[in-house]
Amino acid sequence: MKADVLLGLQWGDEGKGKIVDVLTPRYDVVCRFQGGPNAGHSLHFNNNKYVLHTIPSGIFHENIINIIGNGVVIDPVILRTEIESLEKRGVEFRKNLYVSKKAHLILPSHRAMDALNEFLKGKSKIGSTLKGIGPTYTDKVARNGLRIGDIISPDFESRYRKLTSQHQALLDQNNFEFDYKDYEKQWLEAIELIRSLNIIDSEHVINAYIKEGKKILAEGAQGTLLDIDFGSYPFVTSSNTISAGACTGLGVAPNKLGQILGIFKAYCTRVGSGPFPTELFDETGENIRQKGFEFGSTTGRARRCGWLDMPALKYSIMINGVTSLIMMKSDVLDEQDTVKIAVAYQLPDGTQIDYFPYDTEIEYTPIYKEFKGWKVDTSNMSEISQLPNELLEYIEYIEKEAEVPISIVSVGPDRKATIFR
Ligand code: GDP
Ligand code: IMO
Ligand code: MG
Repeated sequence: MKADVLLGLQWGDEGKGKIVDVLTPRYDVVCRFQGGPNAGHSLHFNNNKYVLHTIPSGIFHENIINIIGNGVVIDPVILRTEIESLEKRGVEFRKNLYVSKKAHLILPSHRAMDALNEFLKGKSKIGSTLKGIGPTYTDKVARNGLRIGDIISPDFESRYRKLTSQHQALLDQNNFEFDYKDYEKQWLEAIELIRSLNIIDSEHVINAYIKEGKKILAEGAQGTLLDIDFGSYPFVTSSNTISAGACTGLGVAPNKLGQILGIFKAYCTRVGSGPFPTELFDETGENIRQKGFEFGSTTGRARRCGWLDMPALKYSIMINGVTSLIMMKSDVLDEQDTVKIAVAYQLPDGTQIDYFPYDTEIEYTPIYKEFKGWKVDTSNMSEISQLPNELLEYIEYIEKEAEVPISIVSVGPDRKATIFR
């Protein structure tokens, strides 16, 4: 059995958590393959909301194995908080949660380094979540990092001190004060809890599951336009958020990947800095933000909102090899008189392009195709046949342009507000 991948096609927050939770009953195993607690994946069911940062979104289903893969970076303090809140809700994590030995640890001083890097960038800062993601991946690539498997080693504490002092030297060099002593205390305590988890050689376990015919779903974090190679660099995260990231982040060979489920919002959002050609600065943008409750699940920041960007969506579909699309939050557009999709961009010299450009510093104006709004409350609809014609036209246009079918339409945050086509 091949492993399916579900990932974001925009700038994150597409609704990955919701759909992974909805699809989990069809799978035996759910794995996270990259990113860390910069992610915030929200799930709604039984009138409750849950936000997961490190733990895969299959954790609320009984008898499903959830694996934090080698490509993920882990902050023990945040993981402990997540585990404690699951424990309070009676979720069985001891049996169902596995952590890769090869996943890297986010140290308290990585958070300080994140703050320093942003400070040094000044006006051109990334708008990082400041969870220490970039500095942890930097140390991984520089071959300095500490991994989950290291916490059982007798020299763990001395290696921790060595890496921390390297970071401290850089902070001192820049006269940058960042007090992480309290956090360090919590961090060292949280390491004790991590030691008691199921720490595994996840690449072996996952490949054995594939051989046994178990069904695996790999859950992405962030989105394709935040990918370190293909996103709007430098305004990106520090990992490969694309389908290829599932290979390196889990140890699954490319020929063992099955369906690639690409998830997108019926419009666009972005949190943090960086180009966003279809961004709306007017009342429509504000209306989408309020109706879609577009405020970050991790940092609470207001998300920037705008129309759907077709050149960007097509680019993401190409890079990931998407086999099936999932469209989220069309209910947020229910009240709009007119709904727009950018189909190309115009450069300052008048040239038109229909692809996502390299140089995102250049001002390029979106060229829109307009659609008549459906002006019907779709949030209680549960079948395709109930959807208004104008929305069906919107869906069909996207499918035709994308050359990939839309298999799910989501019309509300709850598990139940999901329409299969
Ligand atoms: P993720 O990071 O991709 O998992 O997405 P987030 O959880 O950060 O953000 C998506 C937000 O939209 C969450 O607050 C979800 O509860 C909410 N949401 C998901 N699907 C829908 C939908 O179809 N309609 C509406 N109105 N909200 C949704
Ligand atoms: P989920 O998984 C939306 C953004 C940050 C910032 C940039 C770099 O919930 O979709 P980092 O903390 O990685 O240094 O931030 O990436 N970002 C996200 N935006 N959703 C996310 O995750 C994000 N994770 C990081 O806002 O612009
Ligand atoms: Mg999110």
